[in-house]
Amino acid sequence: MGYKKVDFKTLGDERGSLIALEKDYNIPFNVNRVYYIFDTKDGVRRGYHAHIKLKQMAVCVKGSCTFVLDDGKKREEISLDTPNHGLLIEGLIWREMYGFSEDCVLVVLASEHYDEDDYIRDYEKFIKVIHEQ
Ligand code: TYD
Repeated sequence: MGYKKVDFKTLGDERGSLIALEKDYNIPFNVNRVYYIFDTKDGVRRGYHAHIKLKQMAVCVKGSCTFVLDDGKKREEISLDTPNHGLLIEGLIWREMYGFSEDCVLVVLASEHYDEDDYIRDYEKFIKVIHEQ
């Protein structure tokens, strides 16, 4: 549980590159939802939440952006700037995203359908839930 940056194998030939994301090969959960964030305005910081149950793999398929990841004890920043890197987030991790390049397309594979009840959008509540675990 937690988060980690992962490398995806790039398949390619003289025509260009291809990366396949596949359950149990490089995605360790059932994918029930995919969403993407793009056209993010300059200076925007988003996220500001944790999930109770959701597992996610975030891939910056174009451009770059930076994640702030907070497990309640420490904060770390991870930048995504290539389609062959993914950020796997499992368990209670507070996340914020910023530094979106103009061309950034951030694709997120998610283990569950969208469920607002799975969100913790208040940082104080997040810390409280961490301490209850
Ligand atoms: P929001 O949670 O604010 O995005 P971020 O990941 O930056 O915190 O989501 C923006 C809006 O989109 C909000 O009204 C919820 C909605 N939404 C969905 O309907 N389905 C989804 O899968 C996601 C991720 C968001």
